[in-house]
Amino acid sequence: MKIMITGGAGFIGSNLILSWLENHPEDILVNFDCLTYAGNLANLKEIENHSNYHFYKGDLRLPKDIEAAFEKYQIEAVIHLAAESHVDRSILTPDQFIQTNIVGTFNLLETAKHFWQTELSKHRFLHVSTDEVYGSLGESGYFQETTPYRPNSPYSASKAGSDHLVRAYYHTYGMNTIITNCSNNYGPYQFPEKLIPLLIKNCMEQKPIPVYGNGSNIRDWLYVKDHCCAIDLAFHKASAGETYNIGGLNEWKNIDIVRYICRYLDEKLNRSGDNSCQQLITFVKDRPGHDQRYAIDASKIQQTLSWQPEFSFEIGIQETINWYLDHQAWVAQVTSGEYQKYYIQQYEKR
Ligand code: NAD
Ligand code: TYD
Repeated sequence: MKIMITGGAGFIGSNLILSWLENHPEDILVNFDCLTYAGNLANLKEIENHSNYHFYKGDLRLPKDIEAAFEKYQIEAVIHLAAESHVDRSILTPDQFIQTNIVGTFNLLETAKHFWQTELSKHRFLHVSTDEVYGSLGESGYFQETTPYRPNSPYSASKAGSDHLVRAYYHTYGMNTIITNCSNNYGPYQFPEKLIPLLIKNCMEQKPIPVYGNGSNIRDWLYVKDHCCAIDLAFHKASAGETYNIGGLNEWKNIDIVRYICRYLDEKLNRSGDNSCQQLITFVKDRPGHDQRYAIDASKIQQTLSWQPEFSFEIGIQETINWYLDHQAWVAQVTSGEYQKYYIQQYEKR
């Protein structure tokens, strides 16, 4: 099958391409990505010459780019990950989130509909989304597939908008869509603007670790490889029109996960006392509209598709931390340009 993976040069997309080529070597993958600051072809170095892998530099905001890629590779299915994905950036520059996440998804749906028109129901369109569309939980409860959408940030609102469009193309046109809503991922190749890679990077460089507010916000963390397995299963086994929540049953208060990673790094880097990574923890002004808690009820995908996370948090986080320690050149490369300006605006001018 010829599958377009949008956003394949990003964090989850590159992990997905690497695992997909291993598990489905017969498929032809077209990585459609415009390479924003978050897209990095170095993530895919080991498969760049694979005969069943192609990179197409295109922008979802430009319908002609999507049409040209569909035409060139005769695309038969889509797994849609490309997005502006960082909440803090959505607060600083929301317009890009509307253009890529909402208008870009619309352009992709329209092109797919036009291209597959006579056989729309035969071509799978899997849309990768987030649990953040459901808004924020209090101390108890879990997000279910039936939980009403209540997005609170420009990022989650734009993802909610894209989910609604995908849903509408199933109901109105009979497109063969699946939507997955996953909790926070961690793992190799995550851009160091998100909490876990940012804190590992700052520990290595002995820079302050910014913790928003009092650190009491709660997130559910899933290893990216487990998310990729869930996407693979949903792509192959789910019925058209279905939506699935994906999560790790692994809730952590931000301050606790920060301390846990600091302890691990102290051991690895032989730091203690005044030199301990714990000393770098710095409470900073809270994120505006900061969602208090996310937690996922993943029983639907567990029961209907037999998905389970394979990695315990202890193993996943150790693999992740070790990966960052072993890939300092990658970290230096992806943070050498625009990142510096963003970092100053986000953390030093607050
Ligand atoms: P990322 O920011 O690491 O990567 C996004 C990729 O999309 C980059 O390669 C970027 O170049 C590309 N892209 C952005 N705008 C584009 C455009 N206009 N045209 C073409 N390509 C464009 O994101 P990620 O963390 O890998 O997330 C991937 C998807 O998964 C997103 O849709 C996100 O909402 C969703 N998701 C992420 C998480 C998480 O914890 N990271 C959790 C749940 C869902
Ligand atoms: P993040 O990785 O940005 O993911 P999301 O906002 O999509 O959940 O943030 C995870 C949590 O960590 C979130 O509650 C915000 C918090 N956070 C900090 O405390 N400091 C930081 O520097 C960052 C980036 C996030």
